Amino acid sequence: MDRSILLNPGPVTLTQRVRAALGRGDWCHREPEFAALVQGINRRLAGVYAELAADFDAVLLSGSGTAAVEGMLRAFAPRDRTTLVLANGVYGERMSRMLRALGRPQQLLAQDWLAGPGIPQLEAALARDPSISHVAVVHHETTTGRLNDLEMIGRACRAWGVQLLLDGVSSFGAEYIAGRDWNLAAVAATANKCLHGAPGLSFVLARRDLWRRPAADAGSVYLDLHACHAAQHADGYSPFTQAVQVAFALDAALDEHAEQGGWTARRACYRERAARIAATLEARGVRPLLPASAFGSVLWSYRLPGGQDYAGLHDALKRRGFIIYAGQGRLAPGIFRIAHMGDIREDDLQRLCGALRAAIPGRRR
Ligand SMILES: Cc1ncc(COP(=O)(O)O)c(C=O)c1O
Repeated sequence: MDRSILLNPGPVTLTQRVRAALGRGDWCHREPEFAALVQGINRRLAGVYAELAADFDAVLLSGSGTAAVEGMLRAFAPRDRTTLVLANGVYGERMSRMLRALGRPQQLLAQDWLAGPGIPQLEAALARDPSISHVAVVHHETTTGRLNDLEMIGRACRAWGVQLLLDGVSSFGAEYIAGRDWNLAAVAATANKCLHGAPGLSFVLARRDLWRRPAADAGSVYLDLHACHAAQHADGYSPFTQAVQVAFALDAALDEHAEQGGWTARRACYRERAARIAATLEARGVRPLLPASAFGSVLWSYRLPGGQDYAGLHDALKRRGFIIYAGQGRLAPGIFRIAHMGDIREDDLQRLCGALRAAIPGRRR
């Protein structure tokens, strides 16, 4: 089999075990075996973070990360109070677009994409507008690789008594997520990023008491997560057909995640990959887009070396079996991104560093 190493921010290169799980068999989603599998997956998703296990329930959804984020906002962004959206990249701005599409009251605090969400601006907005009951923010903003400072944002949410709605799509399973300390109401995430499952399933973890409260009308039949929660937590069945084989893969991926040491071990592994790649690029004069301390573990972005365009670099690496990722929006012309997720082995990493050296000419002395 051709083994491409995916360095895009999901889907990821699967391990043999997860890929083999995709072929576990043909199951009907309305048989008790599959219902038990869904309930087991939901339990284990809540258990990825020990702090969330006691108070949070997961709902599994067939759809990509965007479906989970939109489902979360439909379920929990109120109709009669304001949701403050902190945005410093494509995904934060997308949450604002979703709220607009839903007609839910919102205030957008848009920051420069190269900056973190401003805590003073957040606190000023909370002080100015008492109708704000929720803050929506992206944890790891994949647009740049910045890990937003949820310690500060979460603490502010708790201090001001507003609830946090978190896009954890590219952080869940590899970065720290707190519950009570951040006043976390819900987090949306996906199977095919830091958990190393296959694409097609996503999920929302929300506080159990919030699932039990009568919800605002979801304004959707498919993305009515309260209905999904009621069904999955009653007997494991879902209102609609689930991505059965993708669930097999997620089940195996969760086994591997736990066996390998959980989110802390995964973060350490990504950080090691990031350091090796950054050192290789630095030796070629390639500069990271942000200061190293601003990045999370999952993905770093770099300025394209002078005289090289993204397509040329991408194609040179693709010929050697590595798929890198372009920048988005206004950052597209000047950067490239390398994610550290998935089954990347020591020999892959060595080959990648060699491929980067070959694809990027050295600096003239
Ligand atoms: C932070 C974040 N949110 C949302 C998404 C959207 O996920 P998907 O492309 O699976 O719909 C992504 C995708 O990379 C992401 O990184």
